[in-house]
Amino acid sequence: MDPYSYQWSGTGRVRWDLGVACCFNDIVSQISKCDLEIFKGWMDHENIFSDRILQALEDTIHKATQVFQNPTKSCLVMSGCGTSGRLGFYVSRDINKFLCRQGGLTACCDYLIAGGDIALLRSTEAQEDDPNLGRKVLDQLCAEKEYVLYIGITCGLSAAYVAGQIDHCLQNLDRFYPVLIGFNPLYQARDHQVENWNQTCASVFNRMQEAQSQNKAAILNPVIGPEPITGSSRMKGGTATKVLLDVIFQVSLHTVMGDTNRSSNNSSSRGTVKKLLNMYYKVLKDIPDRRQDDIAMVISAAGKSLNSNGHLYYLGKDHLGMLGLIDASECPPTYGSDFEDVRGFLQGGFSSWGNKEGDLGNSQNDISIEAFTKHNLLHLTANDTVILVGSSSVKEDDAELFNVWKEVKKTAATTVCLATNQSKSQVIDEGVNLQINLQIHWAQLEKYMEEFPTSLQQQIKNNLMQISTKQTLNMISTGAHILKGKVYHNYMIDLKLSNNKLFYRGISIIVKLLGVSEDKARNAILRSMYRMDDLTTDQTEAQISQHILNASNIPKVLPVTILLLGIKGCTIERALQTLTEYPAIRTAFQTLSKH
Ligand code: F6P
Repeated sequence: MDPYSYQWSGTGRVRWDLGVACCFNDIVSQISKCDLEIFKGWMDHENIFSDRILQALEDTIHKATQVFQNPTKSCLVMSGCGTSGRLGFYVSRDINKFLCRQGGLTACCDYLIAGGDIALLRSTEAQEDDPNLGRKVLDQLCAEKEYVLYIGITCGLSAAYVAGQIDHCLQNLDRFYPVLIGFNPLYQARDHQVENWNQTCASVFNRMQEAQSQNKAAILNPVIGPEPITGSSRMKGGTATKVLLDVIFQVSLHTVMGDTNRSSNNSSSRGTVKKLLNMYYKVLKDIPDRRQDDIAMVISAAGKSLNSNGHLYYLGKDHLGMLGLIDASECPPTYGSDFEDVRGFLQGGFSSWGNKEGDLGNSQNDISIEAFTKHNLLHLTANDTVILVGSSSVKEDDAELFNVWKEVKKTAATTVCLATNQSKSQVIDEGVNLQINLQIHWAQLEKYMEEFPTSLQQQIKNNLMQISTKQTLNMISTGAHILKGKVYHNYMIDLKLSNNKLFYRGISIIVKLLGVSEDKARNAILRSMYRMDDLTTDQTEAQISQHILNASNIPKVLPVTILLLGIKGCTIERALQTLTEYPAIRTAFQTLSKH
């Protein structure tokens, strides 16, 4: 088995070259095409409409219904790493809010993310490697509960943190019902040795099959094909995760809110699931089709900003605004960008973000509009792009956001309104440079909506606006980094090697790009991480966790490695000098090759 196939590169081949997509519209259409594989599936693998997957979805829906019906003794926990954990948090918060708004229902969803709440904003990948930590926090969180529906999300079936938790569930099946969400076939689950553990992700996830056959677990792993940027599971994987979670909750809430026949009637619940999936398909297809030019223009503006050392800022409120922060959080590890390059701010700051640990607040982490006003607004220049996410829901009584937006429009920055509904607030839209109208054609979805009560219809509409906003923001930030030269073919060539999986991903990218052996790639990566032309024995023999501890913050590890291996006789000093002069690796490589 290809040891890196877990990385979700599927066949591992490059299907298109996003790195040289000839115009911005291409970026939009290629990402959109790729997203639709969530529904169309990939090669002959089981897809989201396959019987086994639909059955696993129905089983999970059934368990979620039971939790909602008995919220004092039971709870529902979503857990994952990076974007997978953030989406678990996002959905749990959304569902809890919905439950609280309905009379007679109680909030009972919770979340866990490797690295704790700070990881909701900033990547902290080293803890993703720790299965024992995963187990411990799950155990603590659920100590008081008699019954727990646990949903572990790991798109690549590769997170040891999640594997540790599933292992815990499998050992306590009288209390836990584990659900695994991922998008690889099980045989591609990560089988690398995990430090301080006698199991691997693959060994644990494979054990789930037996529990599943006894109706004690569910494996939700439709195969959806490679990411547009290899390994960037925040994109299609994140979108597929949200689709699955939304559908699970929409159908179970439908049952809880009155239609009691539904839980026992599988065929009708399957019909509802399919209807909902079709709605998501339509929205994810329709918006990029209709808005391709507008999104492309914003990509161009955001790319120019990043290329001229400017910023891409997202401002917003509530759930749509939160998506800006989630999108921004993944840019540093994926593209080696600075935390300040792409940042999100939210009306109400942490109190509106709604995380368990509350204000994470030193000034560097402050996500409030007030912080933006204090630290960023004054410095806006023509090199910056500022996007008002969900602009149509911003009203004059959202004083904070409304006022700051008025000020932003007076600056030289490029301003963009991203509206999800027919814009009601002309004042918001007036005078902006660019707009993307993500309004969904609700009339076309009416026939799917009819069966749901009005309050749930509104929730489904909100979820569809969220998915479309997520997709658009992903396109913008990915496109902007492509323009900055952070993507070569469809590889992220400046990712941070900040955990075991990412360390191996780095090796695999170098092997594939330069055709060298794994050993050679590893050695050059270590030279680049330690900034040394000759490594010491301690360095070559250290555990991967040690390399990560010592050197995961070193910038441009892969670009330097590419020059070390691709240019004969290149030294660390020469590679660094060249990259300072020519930050894009393509240009740096071409320049050095000529000499
Ligand atoms: O290790 C970091 C990371 O790759 C993030 O970029 C990503 O969001 C996260 O892992 C989740 O990966 P998975 O869902 O496959 O566990």
